[in-house]
Amino acid sequence: MNNKEFTVERMISMLEERDITSPINEECDKFGIKKGDIVIDYGCGSGGYTKKVSELIGDNGKVYAVDIYDMALEAVKRKIDKYQLKNVEPVLVKNINRIDANIADIIIAIDMFHMVQDPNVVLKELHRLIKKNGTLFIDMMHMIPDDVKGIVVNSNLWEIVNESDNCLKCLPIG
Ligand SMILES: C[S@@+](CC[C@H](N)C(=O)[O-])C[C@H]1O[C@@H](n2cnc3c(N)ncnc32)[C@H](O)[C@@H]1O
Repeated sequence: MNNKEFTVERMISMLEERDITSPINEECDKFGIKKGDIVIDYGCGSGGYTKKVSELIGDNGKVYAVDIYDMALEAVKRKIDKYQLKNVEPVLVKNINRIDANIADIIIAIDMFHMVQDPNVVLKELHRLIKKNGTLFIDMMHMIPDDVKGIVVNSNLWEIVNESDNCLKCLPIG
């Protein structure tokens, strides 16, 4: 096992531990998720947020759980099996083109932006996926807020309309 695999394995195992000891609950309130929404949990990790979103959207909604690592999606699949989550589709970033354009009511990118190598590529892809009246939430954990805001504004693809709880609420431009 090389260092990188070890780090990813540890990250997922810590997230899965968190999902047991402090499951995601009211953290999702600020996203205003409704029954029937289509949500993308971008950088889903072990799927702690995915599971809560799955409950909020109900049978007519859908949540795409997207991550760059197989190991993350394996953890999501364990949750799908354990909790019988029928409205969750795990998607690897390398296959993200399989998700239709302009599909998402809400995209959440929680505690993941600091790991992204090229934020502009991600912001462009998320812009492809969002509906015209959809909303993107970027959690700025582990980052300097002004840095994140600068990246978002300079992308010319997203307008920041609110900032609270270290989280940016963004609307698509164009
Ligand atoms: C610290 S975890 C947070 C997971 C989850 N959002 C949560 O808060 O429970 C960050 C996740 O983002 C994923 N990630 C990092 N870079 C990514 C990228 N460019 N695209 C998608 N996911 C990415 C990592 O693999 C990891 O699972």
